[in-house]
Amino acid sequence: MIVLLVIFAALLCPTVHSADASVDWCYHKAACNFTTWPKIAPQFCNGSNQSPINIVTASVQGNPNLTSFNLTGFDDNSTFLSIVNSGDSVVVNLDDEKMTVQGGDLPGLYNTKQFHLHWGNGSSSPGSEHTVDGKQYPMELHIVNVHSKYNGSVSAALAAKDSTALAVLGFFIEGTNEANKTKSWDILTSYLTSIRNSGNTTTDIMNQITLNSLIEGVDRTKYYRYQGSLTTPSCNEAVIWTVFKEPIKVSHDLINRFSTTVFFKDASASVLNTNNFRGVQPLNGRVVTSQVIQTAATPAASSAATSTLSVITVLLLSSLCWL
Ligand SMILES: *[C@@H]1O[C@H](CO)[C@@H](O)[C@H](O)[C@H]1NC(C)=O
Ligand SMILES: *[C@@H]1O[C@H](CO)[C@@H](O)[C@H](O)[C@H]1NC(C)=O
Ligand SMILES: *[C@@H]1O[C@H](CO)[C@@H](O)[C@H](O)[C@H]1NC(C)=O
Ligand SMILES: *[C@@H]1O[C@H](CO)[C@@H](O)[C@H](O)[C@H]1NC(C)=O
Ligand SMILES: *[C@@H]1O[C@H](CO)[C@@H](O)[C@H](O)[C@H]1NC(C)=O
Ligand SMILES: *[C@@H]1O[C@H](CO)[C@@H](O)[C@H](O)[C@H]1NC(C)=O
Ligand SMILES: *[C@@H]1O[C@H](CO)[C@@H](O)[C@H](O)[C@H]1NC(C)=O
Ligand SMILES: *[C@@H]1O[C@H](CO)[C@@H](O)[C@H](O)[C@H]1NC(C)=O
Ligand SMILES: *[C@@H]1O[C@H](CO)[C@@H](O)[C@H](O)[C@H]1NC(C)=O
Ligand SMILES: [Zn+2]
Repeated sequence: MIVLLVIFAALLCPTVHSADASVDWCYHKAACNFTTWPKIAPQFCNGSNQSPINIVTASVQGNPNLTSFNLTGFDDNSTFLSIVNSGDSVVVNLDDEKMTVQGGDLPGLYNTKQFHLHWGNGSSSPGSEHTVDGKQYPMELHIVNVHSKYNGSVSAALAAKDSTALAVLGFFIEGTNEANKTKSWDILTSYLTSIRNSGNTTTDIMNQITLNSLIEGVDRTKYYRYQGSLTTPSCNEAVIWTVFKEPIKVSHDLINRFSTTVFFKDASASVLNTNNFRGVQPLNGRVVTSQVIQTAATPAASSAATSTLSVITVLLLSSLCWL
């Protein structure tokens, strides 16, 4: 009985990034790359609300409820507990008692568990998961938060079959030549040589960096919102996605460190971790919302030009939008 309970508990205790330990999924081999996930992990990866997606800006709908976030503990340098090579990504575990996210039309308070990254093969071979009008960025940062009603337990949250169990904040990363702007990224990436192999972990990262310093420069009031899934098996459709419009700027050299330093989980060979992203999934009727309707605002403005009142309204609205 105890053995059965332990096995059951083990099955229910996935990490967020490799949510289904029972399925041998991967990014780099034909037998297990993301095109195979709907077959090898069909329970959720074959669902109809999957992530990532391509965001078509002309189809984004305005939603005035998408207010600013309250990000607690993001300026605290004692929140980074460890940095881990999970075998498919680099994960930084965070102190979820000190870090929370609320606001932004999320249904309550969320505890911040970890962040991890997706990348391509150097800054010139992109590897973000979400794309915007087909544009793929060099990298994407995911901050994973679990609703406070699950007491910090991601496995409990996933078991609940709750479409709002997790809130992931996604940030695009773009290359820059201004190396001095990305000091905290220099510190973060300096730990990669300590975790080259799958399973390696180090706590040396404690008390060095704040999460705010990694997302510095991004306007947190401008973002896309949609309902989706984990982007790795078992692809649970339990995520309220927030994808910020402005990218984080990180120097090319530091972006290149990811694809040249850490190895995939692979028993048969040392394979550098590159292109650890899932391709975009069908929207299937889902709607992406944002604070402003971006490109769609232009035709609206011109057709409204016949009425002075409409013009004034549009001008007022657009000035409000850009505050
Ligand atoms: C994934 O594997 C399939 C064969 O199963 C191959 O056709 C495809 O190019 C691979 N895709 C990626 C992104 O590696
Ligand atoms: C995935 O779902 C679609 C539609 O329900 C179905 O046609 C297809 O066979 C499923 N694929 C797998 C691998 O289960
Ligand atoms: C905004 O929130 C209100 C109150 O919860 C709700 O009635 C309304 O449908 C929401 N609007 C959108 C566009 O989601
Ligand atoms: C955000 O925090 C401020 C200050 O602590 C508080 O007044 C406000 O109500 C909070 N907003 C949300 C949405 O929690
Ligand atoms: C990544 O880039 C390096 C250097 O350009 C190249 O040698 C390697 O084959 C690339 N890897 C993949 C998986 O494309
Ligand atoms: C979370 O903790 C509260 C209070 O300790 C408890 O009542 C509740 O059942 C817990 N919920 C879960 C999902 O563990
Ligand atoms: C960063 O470097 C750029 C060019 O290398 C320089 O113009 C700028 O003043 C530097 N900024 C800081 C804060 O050091
Ligand atoms: C990293 O992982 C490798 C392979 O499992 C192991 O041999 C090595 O001792 C680990 N190094 C550290 C610093 O944990
Ligand atoms: C971390 O934060 C503490 C308290 O604000 C500060 O005294 C310390 O200098 C910071 N450490 C680093 C490395 O920035
Ligand atoms: Zn991710």
